[in-house]
Amino acid sequence: MTSSAHDAASATPRRFTAQGPLKGRTRVPGDKSISHRSIMLGALAVGETKVTGLLEGEDVLATAAAMRAMGATVERTGEGAWTVSGVGVGALLQPQGPLDMGNSGTSTRLLMGLVASHPINVSFTGDDSLSKRPMNRVITPLSQMGASFEASEGGRLPLIVRGASPAVPITYTLPVASAQVKSAILLAGLNTPGKTTVIEPVPTRDHSERMLKGFGAELEVETQPDGTRIITLTGEAELKPQTIEVPGDPSSAAFFLVAALITPGSDVVIENVGLNPTRAGLVDVLIAMGGQIEKLDERDVGGEPVADLHVRHSALKGIEVDPAVAPSMIDEFPALFVAASVAEGVTTTSGLDELRVKESDRLAVMASALTAAGATLEEREDGLVITGTGGKPLPGTRAGIEIATHLDHRIAMSMAVAGLASRDGVLVDDTRPIATSFPVFESMLEGLVA
Ligand code: S3P
Repeated sequence: MTSSAHDAASATPRRFTAQGPLKGRTRVPGDKSISHRSIMLGALAVGETKVTGLLEGEDVLATAAAMRAMGATVERTGEGAWTVSGVGVGALLQPQGPLDMGNSGTSTRLLMGLVASHPINVSFTGDDSLSKRPMNRVITPLSQMGASFEASEGGRLPLIVRGASPAVPITYTLPVASAQVKSAILLAGLNTPGKTTVIEPVPTRDHSERMLKGFGAELEVETQPDGTRIITLTGEAELKPQTIEVPGDPSSAAFFLVAALITPGSDVVIENVGLNPTRAGLVDVLIAMGGQIEKLDERDVGGEPVADLHVRHSALKGIEVDPAVAPSMIDEFPALFVAASVAEGVTTTSGLDELRVKESDRLAVMASALTAAGATLEEREDGLVITGTGGKPLPGTRAGIEIATHLDHRIAMSMAVAGLASRDGVLVDDTRPIATSFPVFESMLEGLVA
């Protein structure tokens, strides 16, 4: 997808309205973070990696196209079933043109890392949302490893990466809690002789570490008493092809969890939800708010903890959300804000500065969206303070008022859920961005309210 594909003229607006309880069982698509990584690492292993449950959203397809452009064979063999024949660490080819990353920050930042230690020059482009997002957070450490960059003003896309060969190993302490920055450095470390170390004062999602080990990389993680993680990868690595089953995406399940909790009469089982502790913060916060969520059949899928989640309509109560849980639910705050807006009492969130540099400024955009739907809230520098309706529906958006989603899939889906808990419905200006992470969101929602 390019910016022209998402111009205002062809936006697809939709009013989401209350439709009665959500009932039945459903299964969310594969985890986006794990899907990206399975294609990237498969493309670096010599031989055939087989992936099932891959998320076939636009962001992951952008990663697949990029790996093809750099020499890997990436093929779809069935629904969610893909094979990747890799070129080997160090053997990525010079792509013939710019790599279009669409809306995907994960593709961009992780691939900048991969390219940084290969002797190739790669130009990255993206849509209007991605072109506003900060890339200096990866440019700084990757420059220390020897790569050079020509970026647009403020360290933004479009930009060119000139890879270093050989790159030099670094020890880098993350200044922001970001799995993308951590992963970019580790991926660059794959083709860098010696020990590349990332020090993570605040733990972030650890899918890269788990999968790198699974592919046979020499990677060690030491956790200090204060929780700081020291991750060391020894290059140059040789990766062995794997068979990967991608678990369901907790960030996608989040919308149905909240929808079922706030819609009277709902009773739903969401199957196969990834519950890696570095991702599962929302479930704990919703339970602390009084949400009835049961974990059924807890098991392991592809090296990740998974369960089916049984969720029922609940009288939610506002709480103060501990900022320490933020990294484990960083993408789920828009959905949480919707739950808070119909809970009883006040929900306070803080420590969420990172939400301002996601696909949109999710604090500002959710504050105006929920206000337009009739919620009561205060926007602070690093969080929202929301006073809920105590279980009553939100009024919804008035005639002529549209929620501006700013090319942000999670704003569109969160406000769709808000519409289910509203009197007059919520008009979302553009549903197309939903396809970046959850192309079947609307049809799954329809299935549950049928
Ligand atoms: C991701 C990391 C997070 C998250 C994003 C996916 C990843 O970003 O918001 O949706 O797959 O590594 P940050 O690294 O910017 O926190």
